[in-house]
Amino acid sequence: MVNKASKPTDPIIGLDTWNIQLDQNGQLKHFLTTEGLGSEMLTHILDTAESFANINDQRVKKVPLLRGKTIVNLFFEASTRTRTTFELAAKRLSADVLNININTSATSKGETLLDTLQNIQAMQCDMFIVRHNDSGAAHFIANHVAPNISVINAGDGWHAHPTQAMLDMFTIRRNKGNDFSRLRVAIVGDILHSRVARSQIHAFNTLNTGEVRVIAPKTLLPVGIEDMGVNIFTDLEAGIEDADVVIMLRLQKERMQGALLPSEQEYYRLYGLTSQRLRAAKDDVIVMHPGPINRGVEIDSCVADGARSVILDQVSYGISVRMAVMTMVLGREIPDTNRVTDNTSQTDNTKDQSGGIA
Ligand code: MLT
Repeated sequence: MVNKASKPTDPIIGLDTWNIQLDQNGQLKHFLTTEGLGSEMLTHILDTAESFANINDQRVKKVPLLRGKTIVNLFFEASTRTRTTFELAAKRLSADVLNININTSATSKGETLLDTLQNIQAMQCDMFIVRHNDSGAAHFIANHVAPNISVINAGDGWHAHPTQAMLDMFTIRRNKGNDFSRLRVAIVGDILHSRVARSQIHAFNTLNTGEVRVIAPKTLLPVGIEDMGVNIFTDLEAGIEDADVVIMLRLQKERMQGALLPSEQEYYRLYGLTSQRLRAAKDDVIVMHPGPINRGVEIDSCVADGARSVILDQVSYGISVRMAVMTMVLGREIPDTNRVTDNTSQTDNTKDQSGGIA
């Protein structure tokens, strides 16, 4: 597939390395950002995930597509959902999975990141799943690994979280259909520190979404956000009015410097999503959240657990989307879901269950 990539605008990574995610045939080699990938590529990821969702609904949830491949989870920052769903996705594809616990690895003893990478590479692995608190870390690693290795960004600093954005697109498509041009989407909360919001906005734009709104206090909006083609609101009820999709974000306090908010109570008073406030949106609105959720800070339990919430579906779909991306970057065929379930491979593929920092 030849990808019609658009020129990216994100200043964090720089223009020189933006297109390293595609090989010379326009196929996905690394998955680092949703920015710059065309609608054909994003739709191909969603279609591939659809066939894996069927597999995940079957009694035996395993296919042999990545048998013999070794996938390394390289998490420099805490994670529960993302790391475990990547691990489960790799196991369902029959890959061997290695979890490197960075807290106890040689990196914490002073070894440089590049030395750590070279040592892991020497173990003949095929893919790195990378989470790092520095923006650009996944691009850096992709630029330094051996040519046979693919890198998937599982979240880098404030920059990007592309598999989260794609599982969100998948959840929306499953609930609202393929035509994003009919949709009004509202993203509410700490946009400033959110790699999820950035990756979502790029994906929404590429998928030709009708309207994307961001709703936050001014202190939690990045400078120049309007250049991303979104409409800005500082009032929650006005922002979610007639929305088809409301995406709530956590206050990412670990990335905040200085006092950006008076208090969590005041934030909840103005921006907390309650059942009462949700009435401003369409009757069939879906409520999403990438997790972890903070009940009583950005969302009320009645909404998080209520009929309009698809938050747990997002987690389930994350496995299918990650299976799709892993298969695509390693150049495997999309499975014929009626045929490929593998009943023979029931072994535990994890080499190091004790690792991980979640
Ligand atoms: C992330 O990794 O960015 C999460 O999925 C969202 C969050 O931490 O709030």
